Amino acid sequence: MAASATPNLHLVDSIPEATGPSTKANAAMHPKVISEEVFTASALQEAAFYADDTTIILNMDVRDGLELLSKSNILVNCVITSPPFYGQRDYGVERQIGLEEHPSEFISKLADVFDATSDVLIDNGSLWVNIGDTYWSGKGAHRSKEAKQSARRFGIRPQDKKGDGLWCVPKQLLLIPHRFAIELQERGWLVRNDNVWVKPNPIPDQVRDRCSMSHEYVFHFAKERWYYFDKNSVGKVTDSGTMLPPRDTWEIATVRGQSSRHKARFSEELVRIPILTTTPPRGVVLDPFAGSGTSLAFARKHGFRSIGIDAKREYCEAMVEQIERIAEDEGEED
Ligand SMILES: C[S@@+](CC[C@H](N)C(=O)[O-])C[C@H]1O[C@@H](n2cnc3c(N)ncnc32)[C@H](O)[C@@H]1O
Repeated sequence: MAASATPNLHLVDSIPEATGPSTKANAAMHPKVISEEVFTASALQEAAFYADDTTIILNMDVRDGLELLSKSNILVNCVITSPPFYGQRDYGVERQIGLEEHPSEFISKLADVFDATSDVLIDNGSLWVNIGDTYWSGKGAHRSKEAKQSARRFGIRPQDKKGDGLWCVPKQLLLIPHRFAIELQERGWLVRNDNVWVKPNPIPDQVRDRCSMSHEYVFHFAKERWYYFDKNSVGKVTDSGTMLPPRDTWEIATVRGQSSRHKARFSEELVRIPILTTTPPRGVVLDPFAGSGTSLAFARKHGFRSIGIDAKREYCEAMVEQIERIAEDEGEED
């Protein structure tokens, strides 16, 4: 991760200046947000697939998108995303991430992307990454004629190949989420939580010699020790009046059977704690693998600005439809 260097240009107070003791902790709870001028600068709006004064959608490779944001002086307060999982889907886009020959190559590419997010994440901001695991199968190309299987296995996935005889052997759980978090830790990120998303309605694995997988992770990373975190926005008050932070296990049903073009959509409930706790008023949320735009939609409904990047045009079109519906509702409420 690059050394911290949040410039003071183009930043405005989100919450009135700190009045208490001048400590780093107090300063972190009075964060800055980028000005409207930077967010709506014409060069960025023109390069965008969609842009208004609250939401920007970039239809491009994530690395190009992050470079463009950095050149445009964008600084966001919260990065939340679900990157492609290893060997799960063929999105059919150039330079797509997720189908690398070896999991170590996947982890290093993903870590490079998140290192690049640090250039556009304000120093007291947070990074949240939803990531699930993969088993090595070594079974070769699938031969099932069942349409569902073909869609799921799209020919030969990396984990169906022969493997390296070490991590990549049949039946091995690759421990991708943990390896990824350790890689970010080694690159200088602070790991604050390995929140577990527990799925009460998983599609059961068809296996006979292990438990069926029903969880994923939502890692919370910070750049620095003191960062913005508003536990009051989601915490629980005890009978004695103490505000407790949310727990690190989140039971949330998976999104299924809804009319969406995106097959790996996450639920708005999954982004609730990340966005509400770590985005200050009028702050900016960035989803660098935005898919159907769940994070952007949630951010907009709660008064935050947001930026989404996705390489697939069809998903960007779906995002625009979703954002335009929310914008229409905003108009009706005025
Ligand atoms: C797991 S999905 C994100 C789903 C999203 N959280 C939602 O709720 O819909 C991952 C996304 O990464 C995108 N993607 C894959 N490789 C990419 C790349 N190199 N640059 C930008 N987007 C990419 C895919 O098109 C896909 O939409």
